[in-house]
Amino acid sequence: MGFDDIPTLSGGFAPVDHEIVRDDLPVEGEIPRDLNGLYVRNGPNRQFAAPGRYHWFDGDGMLHALRFDGGRVQYRNRWVLTPGLLEERAAGQALWPGIKDPPRRDRPDQPHKNTANTDVKFFGGELLAMWYRGGQAWRCSAQDLATSGPLLLPPALADLPISAHSKVDERTGELLFFAYGLTPPYLQHGVLDRRGALTSLVDVPLPGPRLPHDMAVTEHYSILHDLPLFHDAQALAAGRHKLKFHADMPARFGVVPRHGGAPVRWFEASPTYLYHVANAWEESGPAGDEIVMTGTPFRLPRDARGDVDAERLPRLLALLDSDHVFHEWRFNLRTGQTRERVLDDVLNTEFPVINAARLGLPTRYSWHVLMGRSTQPEDPRFCGLARYDLQRGSCQTYHEGPQRWWSEAPFAPRDGAVEEDDGYLVGFVWNDATRQSQACVFDAHDIVQGPLCRITLPQRVPHGFHATWVSAERLARGW
Ligand SMILES: [Fe+2]
Repeated sequence: MGFDDIPTLSGGFAPVDHEIVRDDLPVEGEIPRDLNGLYVRNGPNRQFAAPGRYHWFDGDGMLHALRFDGGRVQYRNRWVLTPGLLEERAAGQALWPGIKDPPRRDRPDQPHKNTANTDVKFFGGELLAMWYRGGQAWRCSAQDLATSGPLLLPPALADLPISAHSKVDERTGELLFFAYGLTPPYLQHGVLDRRGALTSLVDVPLPGPRLPHDMAVTEHYSILHDLPLFHDAQALAAGRHKLKFHADMPARFGVVPRHGGAPVRWFEASPTYLYHVANAWEESGPAGDEIVMTGTPFRLPRDARGDVDAERLPRLLALLDSDHVFHEWRFNLRTGQTRERVLDDVLNTEFPVINAARLGLPTRYSWHVLMGRSTQPEDPRFCGLARYDLQRGSCQTYHEGPQRWWSEAPFAPRDGAVEEDDGYLVGFVWNDATRQSQACVFDAHDIVQGPLCRITLPQRVPHGFHATWVSAERLARGW
């Protein structure tokens, strides 16, 4: 099978070979002069073809960055030089199978290659590239994207399987992370202060190995996920990757004080599986103190009788199909009860972002990727953008037809911004008709009018995962 036969290795997904820097990029419209900082996106970009079956999540991590400075912009891309990729470069060939094939039993240190391809955050003056399956996080220069080494942890914790969706609290500079794996306690929560010192690491024991993808944080707590979709134990023992959804098990959310000092409090909710949280915050009201969490769980597929089709959900995930709702959970710290409601069951959206300076505080707005439904297996479609206003209960969307493929577009505050949505969205878009990648800047307050400017990129930016915005102020401050 050639690359062209695999949707996630062809068209806008196909990997690129070159690492380049360019600052003479054609711009339609005008780049706002009060947009200053770094946009960087992580994603898979396989360097060596491996035998076996390819999955979109397998590719080696590559960062694509745009530096905005007073109306000018520079593009740069670079692989994350993980030890796995360096080993493969030395060998001149792929040495690891993808996630669809059994792991390497001769490499207990790294049964699957840690590609660091999933998310990227700015912490301690550097970028951190991280992997969703959990592994070492890799530090990369915010100047030139060069990989400088692993996130430094005490030696005994060097192999802590840190998940991709660590959070940075921009008000304290802390990195909050969870680590998860196949052995007890299966889940841990940790905090590094802005100088990189570990200030908290607690076990969050689970009944067995789970597949948490994200976590939430508030001002005082982290919320960790124990969801009833996880590895089939027998298949896992045989080295196979098979997921099972347990429609009769509740979802459980563990509330952990950020800096420890109290045991984990578990809240049960209706069975669900979600990749991404939008935000979480603390609220006081007549019903008592609550933690509010919003996110985009899968819409549970139903059979002809209306019952949850537990077999179909893992298949949807495996085929990279998307069908999501926007959802809210409320965990009452006084009663221990959970209340939940659907915020939007009309639009299919994922990859929610907020104004990251307000992570863990009440937020009114979130911006999501509008998801299309796949027309063939393993052909995910990021077909537009959506902006939610939770105060008004309203939503606006922007898309330009089926030939565009957008990307997670983080919120970038305007210089000196005060209001929550006073700024821009910055993201990539691939045009399948012109075979060209562009970066687009939107007014975050009103995406309906379309991009304020379009920057044509010097090469294709393969479809990828998560992105971050680092303001010039944070770059200068170093945290
Ligand atoms: Fe993710």
